[in-house]
Amino acid sequence: MAKTSKAWMQEHVTDPYVKRANAEGFRSRAAYKLQQIDAKDKLLRPGLTVVDLGAAPGGWSQVAAKAVGRTGRVIAVDLLEMVQVAGVTVICGDFLEEAVLETVENALEGEAVDLVLSDMAPNISGIASADQARAIGLAELALEFALKHLKPQGNFLVKTFHGAGFDDLVSTLRRTFQQVYTRKPDASRSRSSEVYLLGKGLK
Ligand SMILES: C[S@@+](CC[C@H](N)C(=O)[O-])C[C@H]1O[C@@H](n2cnc3c(N)ncnc32)[C@H](O)[C@@H]1O
Repeated sequence: MAKTSKAWMQEHVTDPYVKRANAEGFRSRAAYKLQQIDAKDKLLRPGLTVVDLGAAPGGWSQVAAKAVGRTGRVIAVDLLEMVQVAGVTVICGDFLEEAVLETVENALEGEAVDLVLSDMAPNISGIASADQARAIGLAELALEFALKHLKPQGNFLVKTFHGAGFDDLVSTLRRTFQQVYTRKPDASRSRSSEVYLLGKGLK
């Protein structure tokens, strides 16, 4: 095993959130990132319509589906196959493709969305500038979707990374949402430049 994958495996098996996720039936440690942001910002509640972009393996969808309950709905999208989560409509495809966007829009059946979540992240190539551009591109695409489909006062939570394009994204959010926050939940590893942007109250 290469040194880096050995180190990754060591970190993975000793990570308290991985252990908790296994014990509590969550598919990913990422579930705790959404739980922790929601504990602070109160984004989820029964009856909401939620779109979860970059949903696999499904931790955020599990958290969202439980919170919105039977009167709400969750539509989850990912490039990767995702095992069904009870109460979640799963769409498998590349959100960069027009046809996949149309499938999501068809699933909404004209209904406006209360909350758009995006935890989408590109596969890392190792070329930092290219990876940053792709990550910001995904966040911008999620924002475009949110601006088109959110209800007035709707909320938007997106994974992004500090670096080129970050400040512009924050500026766009400030123009389009009443309040904008950055969130770095405890479950997000401190060595990762990952940070979540939260737009509250679509103007
Ligand atoms: C960090 S993972 C998401 C973890 C998830 N929130 C959870 O709780 O289990 C990022 C996901 O984004 C997906 N992704 C990246 N680019 C995408 C794209 N263009 N369209 C759809 N999904 C994409 C990846 O396949 C990956 O599953």
